[in-house]
Amino acid sequence: MTDELVEKYAGRLTVLRHFDDDLGLLTPASALEFIGADTASDAYLCGPEAFMDMIESAHTGPGTVYSERFGAAAEPVKAAEEEIPAPAAPIEGTVSIRLGSQRVSVPLQAGETLLESARRAGLAPPFSCEAGNCATCIAKITDGSATMRVNDALSDDEIADGYTLTCQAVPDCSIKVRYE
Ligand code: FES
Repeated sequence: MTDELVEKYAGRLTVLRHFDDDLGLLTPASALEFIGADTASDAYLCGPEAFMDMIESAHTGPGTVYSERFGAAAEPVKAAEEEIPAPAAPIEGTVSIRLGSQRVSVPLQAGETLLESARRAGLAPPFSCEAGNCATCIAKITDGSATMRVNDALSDDEIADGYTLTCQAVPDCSIKVRYE
């Protein structure tokens, strides 16, 4: 896909890849070398916090640095203290997850998200913000139901079709989920 874009926008788009294994970790000096004389250009960043912090400190402008930060994972919404109900009986059940050709099942654990269950089962499912914003962790519930703590990414139609944000979805009962 990237190669197609470079070809389509020849002369306007250049893609440079930096592999840490070959070139070492990026440093402010190597970032500055990359920026070169283009200090008036804007920069768009997305990546690990430490990477974005380092580029932001190296890019002194006058161009602007735009960073895509999702912030910390959302805390579960807590009811006011007097409204906290007595703890419910632990739910028993199974979380079954399909990721590509991998199929795993783990016992349901109260309060655990589907993403956490998937990791506990040894899978490495996709995720990014873990705050309900990006939908990178989307999966389809094929049986059962779950409640999302936060949803800033899926439409009502998508939810009605069974899609959920696994980083936010806590199963209500035994559940089957498929990453697509
Ligand atoms: S990882 Fe971003 S919404 Fe779940």
